Amino acid sequence: MKAQLEAIEKKAFEELTAAQDLKDLDAVRVKYLGKKGELTAILKQMGKLSAEERPVIGQLANQVRAQIEERLEETKTNLEAHLLDQRLATETLDVTMPGKRSVLGKKHPITIVLDELKEIFIGMGFDVAQGPEVELDYYNFEALNIPKDHPARDTQDTFYINDNVVLRTQTSPIQIRVMEKQKPPIRIIAPGRVYRSDALDATHSPLFHQVEGLVVDKNITMADLKGTLEVFVKRLYGEESVVRFRPHHFPFTEPSAELDVQCFNCHGEGCRLCKGEGWIEILGCGMVHPKVLENCGIDPEEYSGFAFGMGLERLVMRRYNIDDLRLFYENDARFLNQF
Ligand code: DAH
Repeated sequence: MKAQLEAIEKKAFEELTAAQDLKDLDAVRVKYLGKKGELTAILKQMGKLSAEERPVIGQLANQVRAQIEERLEETKTNLEAHLLDQRLATETLDVTMPGKRSVLGKKHPITIVLDELKEIFIGMGFDVAQGPEVELDYYNFEALNIPKDHPARDTQDTFYINDNVVLRTQTSPIQIRVMEKQKPPIRIIAPGRVYRSDALDATHSPLFHQVEGLVVDKNITMADLKGTLEVFVKRLYGEESVVRFRPHHFPFTEPSAELDVQCFNCHGEGCRLCKGEGWIEILGCGMVHPKVLENCGIDPEEYSGFAFGMGLERLVMRRYNIDDLRLFYENDARFLNQF
């Protein structure tokens, strides 16, 4: 048995010396020290030995085990160091290679102006509200005092999903959704995409953006509307801007108006920029129609409000001197990188 143990030690050492990688090492460990290993097999036969032999052989077996374990560890450390050296030698790093630049995205000009607009209104105490782009006819028209046979529907070139569902043609339905949910005081703006069945050209697009505004509280008057919108225009276009309110008609406001800003280019004289008008139309607005308040469960005897709505694309085109609407939707990086 002693001879057997010595033979095992010798063989194990030889195999460890020959091991090329960690897998080989593990195989040696299993072969000799594992549960079904050669050394274990010997130890299982210890019972057959005489009382004198047993401690001697036992001690020897333990020694052999310890030796193999020690050699295993040593070989492992050496092998690992060797493998690392090999990897370092083959994996060279060329620090003179040019770096891969990642291209930084930019904000879309519509987003830039919208962010600015939000900041102006948030500064005046407004919240930002949202509504669905696929909208019920009820919210897009009916509740805004535009019944089925109303001529205002013709001007809106509506995409109908079915008789009751449309792609919203304006952000005004968000007014209704907010008033249904929230008791006055209400002070919100609501930006979003709107859809109209127009062919795409330099000045028309079937998809564009509007920003809606709504204020409802006790004792809100036309003076609040004028003051708020004047501040807005002066913040957006500069303190020196001149505005005027021109009577107009919208079904959901009474009275209604359009707000113009005096042409920055000719100061009212009339030029190419303002198409000879001297003034540039910015938005529609008015005092919320009592019927609209009623439709939302708000008592028009107790509360009043004003609303406004503007097209975002035109503001942005004027701001950056962009003359073709289509540039906004093509996402050409050469265009977008200019802002
Ligand atoms: N929704 C109108 C449009 O698309 C714009 C508008 C006008 C909104 C007057 C308003 C408003 O809230 O008071 O033409």
